[in-house]
Amino acid sequence: MNAPSIANAVEVFDLLRDDLAAVEREFAQQAASPVRVVTDIASYLIAGGGKRIRPLLLLLAAKALGCRSESRIRLGAVVEMLHTATLVHDDIIDEANTRRGRPSSNTTWGNAKCVLAGDWLYMQGFQTALAERNFRILDLLISLTQEMVQGELLQMEKLGHLINEEEYFDLIYRKTACLFKVSMQLGAVLEAPDPDEPEAPFEQVMGEYGRNLGIAYQIIDDVLDLTAQHEVLGKPTASDLREGKATLAVIHALERGTGADREAIRTVLADRSFARVPHTQILEILNRHGSLAYATDTACAYAEAARLSIAELPDSKYKRALLWVPGFVTTRDR
Ligand code: IPE
Ligand code: IPE
Ligand code: MG
Ligand code: MG
Repeated sequence: MNAPSIANAVEVFDLLRDDLAAVEREFAQQAASPVRVVTDIASYLIAGGGKRIRPLLLLLAAKALGCRSESRIRLGAVVEMLHTATLVHDDIIDEANTRRGRPSSNTTWGNAKCVLAGDWLYMQGFQTALAERNFRILDLLISLTQEMVQGELLQMEKLGHLINEEEYFDLIYRKTACLFKVSMQLGAVLEAPDPDEPEAPFEQVMGEYGRNLGIAYQIIDDVLDLTAQHEVLGKPTASDLREGKATLAVIHALERGTGADREAIRTVLADRSFARVPHTQILEILNRHGSLAYATDTACAYAEAARLSIAELPDSKYKRALLWVPGFVTTRDR
């Protein structure tokens, strides 16, 4: 008989309430530096909220495998610290002025201080992870950081250019899905009976779930960038095109559009502005070719692939929560 699936966010958050609160405390504690400006920037970002989806995934993965160790709290804080550091750096790179509904940290403290605060936060995350004395964890985190940095650099090289789907999927794997994957893998590594084994039981399964979910997550982020209201999203909208980034719906329209459609999109990407072609015209093109629906459907297919990835996982309330997350990711509005 199929176990009932978890129906809503309240049940999932109830399941993890104590753990998520402990992760918040750990993060706040780890974010304290003797240098005031670092603590100020980190505290500002923590207070801004955020969905905390990466620690949530790590906790669910660990608990689905029966983890009771406190390490899950520390590593939950680590993945959120690394995520926060990437946001600080990303907003500098993207010249973004809002994040989580407030002025972004670079707007308040300036780029120079934020680069360094981001670096500090990265290293604090690694130091926290070091407490586990587990090389497998460090190995995962170091490779992850390299992937993310390479992803940002590759993306920069492609700004203003037309990219194909393959290049798009490679980029979003590196910049977003890899951290989802590693968050899930860390949950499995914590439960590894033998730390010398190259792979923990279920590590591959958990990693696949994270990779698929992370790809769905970034596709939706990119759709929301095109369609959402700024007040709801809490960060700049229509910013990808203004930064010269072609995302999935845009790539789809470029492949199917008329000559005039392609020209309009190329103009925005090359100008990095809507001065000559308004945002509404781009949305009309994307709608006419079903490109936004295509991107959303693709995200839903990855979300379903994430669910299927954990089919072999023993049934538990944590597994059922993991089956709920993909639907949350594809229907979110911020
Ligand atoms: C934003 O991540 C960066 C992306 C990878 C799309 P989130 O959407 O998880 O941001 P917060 O943490 O909830 O603010
Ligand atoms: C997210 O890319 C990648 C990161 C690793 C931060 P975006 O540039 O799309 O993220 P947002 O939209 O600014 O959150
Ligand atoms: Mg950005
Ligand atoms: Mg974005």
